[in-house]
Amino acid sequence: MEKQHIDWSNLGFEYTKTDYRFSATWLDGQWSEGELVTSEYIQLHEGSPALHYAQQCFEGLKAQTAKDGRILLFRPELNCERMQNTSDRLSMPRVPRELFLRGVVEAVRANASWVPPYGSGASLYIRPLLIGVGANMGLRPAKQYEFRVIVCPVGSYYKSGGLAVVSLAVSDFDRAAPHGLGDVKAGANYPGGLYATRKAQELGAYEALYLDAAQHRYIEEAGSANVVIATKDGKLITPSSSAILPGITRRSIMEIGKQVLGMPIEDRPIDLRAEIQSFNEVAACGTAAVLSPVGKLWYDGAWHRFYGNGESVGPVMQELYDTLCEIQRGERPDSFGWTHEVTL
Ligand SMILES: Cc1ncc(COP(=O)(O)O)c(C=O)c1O
Repeated sequence: MEKQHIDWSNLGFEYTKTDYRFSATWLDGQWSEGELVTSEYIQLHEGSPALHYAQQCFEGLKAQTAKDGRILLFRPELNCERMQNTSDRLSMPRVPRELFLRGVVEAVRANASWVPPYGSGASLYIRPLLIGVGANMGLRPAKQYEFRVIVCPVGSYYKSGGLAVVSLAVSDFDRAAPHGLGDVKAGANYPGGLYATRKAQELGAYEALYLDAAQHRYIEEAGSANVVIATKDGKLITPSSSAILPGITRRSIMEIGKQVLGMPIEDRPIDLRAEIQSFNEVAACGTAAVLSPVGKLWYDGAWHRFYGNGESVGPVMQELYDTLCEIQRGERPDSFGWTHEVTL
């Protein structure tokens, strides 16, 4: 199969129209079989609850070409589980596991010419979407839903590319309330962050870092990524909170830290002010961000610098990044059983 003629190594994180998308609909308690369609447009009723009340959720995962040419997905069943949890919380029907995985696989397979080649540093980003559609006015769940899977080739999320050091700024704004929607992947969690991100960027940071909404004391997460920290006493820690997204990358990084690097790991509340002096290496992690070391953090009116005066990548984050990427690209034996091959 011939690949598209594009400059794979210089892709940003942007929308590119690919050839096919998978679409299935839910009506009267039943999911349709689902099919590949070519149009990038969705015809929506003006009363759609996705438009008025943000009854909508999404997922994000990647396919990559392995060293031996196979196309590999990374832990797609966890994205399915998370979308099911999100849809329960938003009173939407669950996309059954079989339909979710088939939609993802069919969308990747049909767009195989768009899967970036091995060694390009790019991946195929997969965006499953579930939206409440159909005529509606009052605040109640939609009577119809569309499940759609779109795919786009992407490069690195933060413009610097590769494993480059980024910066975050602690936000005065909150992302999610305790007992709110923070622990599910609802689109409604994100538009408030656009303003917070702009404010962070005005300070020269890449993204906002949120603290807990109740006390502004504990670290939660960045705008589109979780946080992991290697402490000066050799532990790998990550914030626990009921208001953060349970990231699949974070979970995998913590498992790698424990099993491959042999580090003690802790998933617990992290008090920024009380603990910042103990941070050696900090990183943002997520499907899009992969693992991006955070060199400096704007907090309390000053920049706080981590490993290497905030200018270089520390050894723990380097090893975590390398191990994760090697598993994702089939460069090291997948002893965890995390990759899922898409056969052509
Ligand atoms: C707010 C937020 N936190 C964390 C993550 C990381 O989650 P994952 O590793 O599953 O991509 C994401 C998505 O990438 C996100 O949007």
